[in-house]
Amino acid sequence: MSALQPQLPELPEALDQLAAACDGCRRCGLAASRTHVVVSRGNPRARLMVIGEGPGAQEDEQGQPFVGRSGQLLDRMLESVGIDSNRDAYVCNIVKCRPPENRKPTALEMAACRPWLDQQIQLVDPGVILLAGATAVEGLLGIKGGITKLRGQWRQWEGRWLMPIFHPSYLLRNASRERGSPKWLTWQDLQDVQRRLAQLAAPL
Ligand code: URA
Repeated sequence: MSALQPQLPELPEALDQLAAACDGCRRCGLAASRTHVVVSRGNPRARLMVIGEGPGAQEDEQGQPFVGRSGQLLDRMLESVGIDSNRDAYVCNIVKCRPPENRKPTALEMAACRPWLDQQIQLVDPGVILLAGATAVEGLLGIKGGITKLRGQWRQWEGRWLMPIFHPSYLLRNASRERGSPKWLTWQDLQDVQRRLAQLAAPL
C-alpha cells in the first residue's frame, strides 16, 4: 500500500466503530425508549448475513439480535442444515432499536437506520443474505408484499444472493412440520441456502 493511501481500519475495528456510533444514534424516535441498541451478533467474516426486522424485548434487554424465542427457533432451524448462527453467520436487523410493543418499524424509522445497515453489508460483504420476514424484504429492497409469495425465490442484489424466508415468529405460531407447512417450506429454503453457500465456497 502506498504511504499516501489512508489506512482503512481492519474489519473488527471498523465494526467496533460502527457499534459505538450506533450506540450514540438518535436519528429516529426509537432511541427514546430503547434499553440497548442492538447491532449484531455472530461472525463478521461469515459469508452469510441474516437480517431480521428489529429487536424484541429480549434483544433490547440483552443488546443482541435474535436471542429470544424466535431467535432460538431460527438457530435450531439453521443448525438443522449445518449452519451455526454465531460461527457461520452475521446476524442483524433492519432497525437497531426496539419498536414499542414490537410494532412494525415505520418507513421513516427504517430509512433513518438504513445507513447503519448499508455499512454492515459493506463491511461484512456477505455472498448470501437471508431476509427473515416481509419487513426485512421491505427494509432492504423497498418491496412490499406477502412473504408467502416472496419466500423461497432467490434474488440478486448488488452482487449478492438474497433469500427471503418466513419470519421465525410466524413459524412459532404455525408449529406444523407437515409437508407444505410454513416450517417445512422454510426448511427447504434453508437447505437451498446451505447449497448456495457450499457452491460459493467450492473452488472454481
Ligand atoms: N425478531 C427480529 O426480527 N429480530 C430480532 O432480533 C428478534 C426478533
